[in-house]
Amino acid sequence: MTMLSLGTRGVIFKRIPNVVIAGDNDAPNAVGFRESTLHSKSNSITNPGNSRDMSSKAAPQQIRGEREVRVIVEAPASIANLGPGFDVLAMAIDGFKDVVELVVKPGSGKIVVKVEGIKVPEGKENVAYGVIEEAVERYQLHNMDFNVKVVKGVPPASGLGSSGATAAATAYAVSVAAGLNLSTSELVRLSGAGEAVVAGTPHYDNVSASILGGVVLIDPAGLRIYKINVGREFWIAVVSPNIPKGPKKTFIARAVLPRKIELPLLVKQAGSLARLVHALHVGDLESFGTAVSADYVVEPHRAKLIPKYWDLKRLALESGALGFNIAGAGPSVFSIHRSESEAREVGELMLKYLRGSGIDASLYVTKVSDRGVRILR
Ligand code: HSE
Repeated sequence: MTMLSLGTRGVIFKRIPNVVIAGDNDAPNAVGFRESTLHSKSNSITNPGNSRDMSSKAAPQQIRGEREVRVIVEAPASIANLGPGFDVLAMAIDGFKDVVELVVKPGSGKIVVKVEGIKVPEGKENVAYGVIEEAVERYQLHNMDFNVKVVKGVPPASGLGSSGATAAATAYAVSVAAGLNLSTSELVRLSGAGEAVVAGTPHYDNVSASILGGVVLIDPAGLRIYKINVGREFWIAVVSPNIPKGPKKTFIARAVLPRKIELPLLVKQAGSLARLVHALHVGDLESFGTAVSADYVVEPHRAKLIPKYWDLKRLALESGALGFNIAGAGPSVFSIHRSESEAREVGELMLKYLRGSGIDASLYVTKVSDRGVRILR
C-alpha cells in the first residue's frame, strides 16, 4: 500500500515498501526531501546511527554572511552505474571519504580552495570551486568569502566517485554555513555543477549516493531521487588497475559512448535495469548480480579503456562472483559477493592475474555505506 505524508512546503512523500520517492506535486521540476525529512524513522531515508547526518539540528546557527561560520563535512565514495544504470544508479561505499572544511565570512564572493591528503588540483580546477561558484550565483552569496580545505581521501580518477564526494560535501557545507538549508534535490543539483567541472556535463548519480548514502536511483526528468532499500547485504571487491589517468579521464570515458542506441538495445538495457532494481528490493542477490553484469550500452565501449577487462570479468564470474562490471567511468572494476571472504578471495585472484600480466593494481573489499554526507563539526 502506498502511504502519503505531507512534508514541509507542501512536498508529498510517498512511501512504498522498498523505495522512497522524493516528489513535489506542485512543482515537478523542483522536487526533493527537505533535510528534516531525512530524519524520519524510516531506514530508507535516514543515515542511521548518527544524529548529525544531514540534520538541521546539527547546523551551526544560520547566517547570511553576517559573521564567520566554520563547518566540517564528510562524504563517502560511491560506485555509479552498477552495470545497466548509466547515470541513474549508484551506491555509496564504506571506507574512502572526502572531508571538506569550509569557512564562510563576510566578504565579496571570493573563493579559495586548498587541498590536503591525496593530491588533486587546487583553486578553480577543483570541484569544490565549481560548487561554490554555482552557489554564489544561484543563491546570491556575493556578500560572503569562502575558504575551503578539501582533505582528499577518495582516490581521484579511479571510478569511485571522487569528484562526487568532494562536490557533495562542499554543497552540504555551503548549505549549512551560509544558512541556505537546501533540500536534498537542491543539494544534488548544486553538487552536479561541481561534477561538470570534471566530466564536461553534470551527472547526478555519484553525488546522490554520496549525499543520501545507500543505493540510489535517479530519474533525471525533474531530478527525482529514490533511495532503494536493499533486501540483503552483500560484499563488493573493487580492483583498481594502476594505469595512467589524465585529469580528463571521465570526460574521455563519456566521449567514447554512442550518442544514439537502437531500439532493441534500449529494450534489453531497460530490462536489465528493471531486473536489477527488483532483485535489490526482494534481496535476490543472484538476480542482482546477473543484472549488474548485463550492460549492453556502456560496457562494450568503456571496456576498451581498461586493460584485460574481459579476462577479469570471466575470471571473477567463473570464480564465484555474482556480478561484475566497471565502477563508474572506470578504470576500477567491481564484483558482487555473498561474503567478505569470497570478495577477498576473488579480488586476490583478479589482482594476481593483472600483476601476472605486468599491470600493478590494488584491491579494496567493502560494503554499501548507508551513511551519506554528514557534519563532523
Ligand atoms: N555515470 C557517470 C559515468 C559516473 O559513468 O560517466 C562517472 O562519474
